[in-house]
Amino acid sequence: MTRTVYVNGEYLPETEAKVSIFDRAFLMADGVYEVTSVLGGKLIDFDGHAKRLQRSLTELEMPAPCTMDVLLEIHRKLVKINEIDEGMVYLQVTRGAPDDRDFVFPDPETTKPTLVLFTQNKPGLADSPVAKKGIKVISIEDVRWGRRDIKTVQLLYPSMGKMMAKKAGCDDAWMVEDGFVTEGTSNNAYFIKGNKIVTRALSNDILHGITRAAVLRFAKEAQMEVEERNFTIAEAQEADEAFITSASTFVMPVVEIDGVALGDGTPGARALRLREIYLDESRKVAI
Ligand code: PDD
Repeated sequence: MTRTVYVNGEYLPETEAKVSIFDRAFLMADGVYEVTSVLGGKLIDFDGHAKRLQRSLTELEMPAPCTMDVLLEIHRKLVKINEIDEGMVYLQVTRGAPDDRDFVFPDPETTKPTLVLFTQNKPGLADSPVAKKGIKVISIEDVRWGRRDIKTVQLLYPSMGKMMAKKAGCDDAWMVEDGFVTEGTSNNAYFIKGNKIVTRALSNDILHGITRAAVLRFAKEAQMEVEERNFTIAEAQEADEAFITSASTFVMPVVEIDGVALGDGTPGARALRLREIYLDESRKVAI
């Protein structure tokens, strides 16, 4: 089935959707994005994603293409047209396409933002076989820029990180800066020791994950302790369990870090329980 996508006010078959070669995201990665998951045909945590999008836009002095209510309508319409039961909606806003390449930001009065959305159909996203097995991660140096709290489309290094993991026979990479884990290439990173979940505190060093916020809230409700602080790879390797969170993986158990198996090398009970709670609770309030 040909997907219907959204580009600047139009719903089009994916083969007919076009963006200018002068678009600032194409030339300068001058764009921000959000990925919202869909379960049972409904959007998970839409409000959190909309708020973070607004924050990314504000931080980059980029005009919003429309109101968040209009964005919600577009999300819903694409999910419906493309008959998505489980999957994702990808949204990207760029600073638009001026009529030439120039480092200086274009005048927002004459260059309007580019808005693109498309769906990704992922049947079996919730009941993922990968979650039953867990993933293996390697550690790599975090050489990204200093504003990782802004969700920009500068994804070359995360992409390289995933390739380094793949070449090492693993699934993903955790990035390390000054000896401490920042986050995964496209997810937040955690370990569990006893009844305590440890994850890096929010700052400009990491993306403020929407799934992270929900999972930490549910963990506290489930009487687990949450400690937001720096941690090393060595400390995580000695933990009982580890996991990552993101809109596309929810809570995903990590079973190996740099070749060291955690526990018995299978997904931990607490991580799996958190996944279950996250999926159940998120479905209840999906819109
Ligand atoms: N990635 N950290 C980074 C660097 C990310 O790219 C992401 C999300 C997260 C988790 O954020 P959230 O829980 O809001 O999805 C953390 C998305 C899924 C992606 O790039 O596809």
